[in-house]
Order: sequence, then structure tokens, then C-alpha cells
Amino acid sequence: MPLKGRKIGFLGGGSMGEALMIGLLRTGLVAPADIYISDISNQRLAELKQKLGVQKAADNQAVVKEADVVILAVKPHVIPSVLKEVAPVAKPGQTFISLAAGVPISLIENCLAGPVPVIRVMPNTPCLVGEGASALSAGTHARKEHVNIAMAVFNAVGKAVEVPEALLDCVTGLSGSGPAYMYVILEGLIDGAVRLGLPADKARELAAQTMLGSAKMVLETTEHPAKLKNMVTTPGGTTAAGLYALEEGALRAVLMKAVTAATQRSREMSE
Ligand SMILES: NC(=O)c1ccc[n+]([C@@H]2O[C@H](COP(=O)([O-])OP(=O)(O)OC[C@H]3O[C@@H](n4cnc5c(N)ncnc54)[C@H](OP(=O)(O)O)[C@@H]3O)[C@@H](O)[C@H]2O)c1
Repeated sequence: MPLKGRKIGFLGGGSMGEALMIGLLRTGLVAPADIYISDISNQRLAELKQKLGVQKAADNQAVVKEADVVILAVKPHVIPSVLKEVAPVAKPGQTFISLAAGVPISLIENCLAGPVPVIRVMPNTPCLVGEGASALSAGTHARKEHVNIAMAVFNAVGKAVEVPEALLDCVTGLSGSGPAYMYVILEGLIDGAVRLGLPADKARELAAQTMLGSAKMVLETTEHPAKLKNMVTTPGGTTAAGLYALEEGALRAVLMKAVTAATQRSREMSE
């Protein structure tokens, strides 16, 4: 149990920080007494303490002095100033986990100066409902035990995989931006059914459950989606007719282009 007996500190208690705290508390991996948070807003801190029972810290330095695992959950543009503030109290025995999109591990390591283990993570918004998809990369001083700590945190709010840092832009283009692609696909399916007379609320429920169930089939069977697609396609049947319409609209090519465009944009934004 990589998190057993460890104190977890959050610098920033916004939506992603809160999602992670909820996930950790729900799985019972960490007790509220072992979670420390700081945030620029006192009101936000009081809210989180009341809602989750976690510990309010006086400032960012107080969190880093207390925690074994420090989660950087502030917006990317704030990262340099927050690191400057906490660097004097950071220790090599800690694990720093950064969620900041587009902020390279080298920048964090340079700000921390010492041999502090750093893990960079690209999560996505479904972490808020415990179904996130996160990819993480290890810094120069991070070893397997530090990766395992980060994996435990992000598996508490969904699924996590490890990739080299150079592939995090691609992850951004796939699972980071991916929820928006899925919403567009759902919107199209719902509109199609509503056009044919199905009530909107029923169309929404059926479409969303179909996406959820199909995703579960892919994860649980570990089969390639093409095989699962063929299994539900009867020659000359309804699904074959629908798939032909998707091919005419070049849906697969469009999705591949979407991942490429978002990956390129992520690269541009990190430059
Ligand atoms: N949300 C996502 O889906 C998502 C996905 C991938 C990556 N991320 C990354 O996760 C990180 C957090 O995102 P988020 O959506 O949770 O942002 P957020 O809701 O804005 O949370 C950040 C929190 O940090 C506070 N803060 C600002 N300056 C601070 C400082 N100097 N010290 C301590 N706290 C400070 C903010 O307060 P104020 O609001 O008062 O400024 C806010 O409560 C970002 O780096 C983002 O790139 C998020």
C-alpha cells in the first residue's frame, strides 16, 4: 500500500484538488486527518474542511513541511511562484506530484533545486466523478516507489498509466481533451434520436449509458474495439447500415485528426 501512513498535502484546493481528495477519502486510502491543504482563499479552505474534514494549513510552506506527498494543484501560471515559495522547505524524501498542464518536469526540478522526486500527471475532468483517465511521467529523481505513490492517488479517481514525458502532449490530445469529443458524439446521437421522435431525456440516458457500457466492454474484455464492433454487426442488418453512414462521414479519420490537432496545440502551448 504505497499511501499507507503517508500525509498528503495539496497546494491549491480547486476542482481537481477536491476531486482527488474525495477519491482518496472514498477509497479509504488516506484519513481526513492525513490530508493537508492550502489555498489562496480562506473561504475555500473553510468549505473543504467542513465538507471533507481535511486539515487547513496556514500557507503553502506549512503544507510542504507536513506532507510526505505534495500535490501541486494550482493553475499552471502560478506554479513558478508557488515553487519559489516552498522550495526552501522541500525535502528529497518527499514526492512532488504536479497536475499543471504544459509545465515540464525540468521546470519543477529546477525550481526545487535539490534531488526531490517529481511526477508530472495529465488527468482529465471525469476524475470529478471517480472515472478519470490519467497518464503520469517520472522525473529525474523519481524511482518506482514514487511512481507507485502517484499511481495509487490517480487510480483512486479512475485509471492511471505511466508514459514517457514526451508523450504527455499526445495524452492531452487523447484523454485530456477527450471528454469534449465524447460529449460531441453524444450530442449527435441524442439529436439524431430526437429528430426521429424519441424524447430528449430518454435519448440522453440511452446514449450516455451506451457509451459507458461500450467503454466498459473494451476495458473488461480487453478486446480491440474493431472485434467488438464486428460482434454486433449482422450482415445486411441495422448496425451495418449505421456503420456505413459513419464511414461516409469519415468519422474515424475525423477523430484521428482531432487527436493530432489537440496534440499539436498542446505542444505549441508548452513552448
Ligand atoms: N480541471 C481539470 O480538468 C484539469 C485537467 C488537467 C489538468 N489540470 C490541472 O490541474 C491544476 C488545477 O486545476 P483546477 O481546475 O483544479 O484549478 P482551480 O479550480 O483554479 O484550482 C486551483 C486553486 O488554487 C488556488 N490558488 C491560486 N493561487 C494559489 C497560490 N498561490 N497558493 C495556493 N493556492 C492557490 C486557486 O484559488 P483562486 O481560484 O482564488 O485563484 C484555486 O482554488 C491545473 O494546473 C490544471 O492545469 C486540471
